[in-house]
Amino acid sequence: VSATGRAAADVLVDGETIRAVLEPGAALLGTDVAASVDRVIDATGRYVIPGGIDAHTHMQLPFGGTEASDTFETGTRAAAWGGTTSIIDFAVQTYGHRIEDGLAAWHEKAAGNCAIDYGFHQIVGDVNEASLATLRRLPDEGITSFKMFMAYPGVFYSDDAQILKAMQVSRDTGMLTMMHAENGPAIDVLAAQLVEQGKTDPFYHGVARAWEMEEEATHRAIMLAKLTGAPLYIVHVSAKQAVEQLAWARDKGQNVYGETCPQYLYLSLEEQLGASSEQWGHFEGAKWVCSTPLRSREEGHQQSMWQALRTNDLQMVSTDHCPFCMKDQKELGLSDFRRIPNGIGSIEHRMDLMYQGVVTGEITLERWVELTSTTPARMFGLYGTKGVIQPGADADIVVYDPNGHTSIGLDKTHHMNMDYSAWEGYEIDGHVDTVLSRGKVIVDGDQYLGAKGDGRFLKRGLSQYLI
Ligand code: URP
Ligand code: ZN
Ligand code: ZN
Repeated sequence: VSATGRAAADVLVDGETIRAVLEPGAALLGTDVAASVDRVIDATGRYVIPGGIDAHTHMQLPFGGTEASDTFETGTRAAAWGGTTSIIDFAVQTYGHRIEDGLAAWHEKAAGNCAIDYGFHQIVGDVNEASLATLRRLPDEGITSFKMFMAYPGVFYSDDAQILKAMQVSRDTGMLTMMHAENGPAIDVLAAQLVEQGKTDPFYHGVARAWEMEEEATHRAIMLAKLTGAPLYIVHVSAKQAVEQLAWARDKGQNVYGETCPQYLYLSLEEQLGASSEQWGHFEGAKWVCSTPLRSREEGHQQSMWQALRTNDLQMVSTDHCPFCMKDQKELGLSDFRRIPNGIGSIEHRMDLMYQGVVTGEITLERWVELTSTTPARMFGLYGTKGVIQPGADADIVVYDPNGHTSIGLDKTHHMNMDYSAWEGYEIDGHVDTVLSRGKVIVDGDQYLGAKGDGRFLKRGLSQYLI
């Protein structure tokens, strides 16, 4: 299955790359080929798809007074289990520090530890002359996109003046500007007022981060991008009003793109409000504290996300994998939702969760591949090597069994380094059977055959969406 169609075929892998896609049986008929084939994987009755590319992850991210609980080792292993063979993580420059130091630290964390290939976006947390000069040089190092935050004052936040300056670099270099579009200063006032009123439960995180704050910031980012001529990519879109802003700008011909995440397609603020357990009481809702927040089901945001994925107003699905344990991590916010580290872990389930959209008729099989692999590759300068099964491409291949079954969460059936699952109780129609990363079988049924250090750093080219 590719982004554009499906066919019965044999895929011939030679070393790390795909040599040929052939008529069924043909690969074994040619004598020279038959003689050298040393392994046949029978994919009869299954889908053979390009390995998933998760373009938004945060391994070992220092955040909210703690650190995201998956290391590059545990996080990429979980990714492999779930049929994802490449990630793009975010190297972080924090305020008062140099971009090159943040980037070097990320290379250090990842090098020799990943089971699958990995690239980086750069988070720009301190705009000044030196950092802008460094930013301009990053494409030479294979980093062709950077993220800025209109949220989190005092942590990652940039004001409009800083965003404008960085977007000018984006325009000049062709680097993609990625934006966390939420009005942070306004949100922080609302959050403080809720806490003053004694509204400290996790649910109020989503109340403070109202969709108006996402719509407004998305619009502001679009206008700053229009003014500067920067290509723009809005991360973790969850509000239908934010999608309307994207559609509006795209209809006018602006280079604006967006991703959503599985949590915004399936989970809701109402469910977070209703969440309760013996162990945690109403604090149970902390399991789903992330930003942008879960939205109201009644208001129709989830349906709007699915629709936008069909109409291409949103182009791809990433996880924003940013896992924290309840114990000692989410727990930091027991008496104040503002101190709950923001993030949900989903890297292992993205391919499965999106396949459910095929099962329920929300998207086609081809669109599933496009949203999870082909477009991420094109968007972030990996296409040809990744995101497609064709001669010359890396042999990153997933054999997916549509008749298989996956139960998530209960008794920790997942491989992420978390003490819970945001997807506990989900029953998935479908199962990742076999995963190849550059020709090596790293998942074979219930066997894990990958190893840390197998994954290589991906020097990315410019986005293929900019031409
Ligand atoms: O809640 C989230 N999304 N945590 C990760 C950081 C970010 O803003 O992407
Ligand atoms: Zn963000
Ligand atoms: Zn993120």
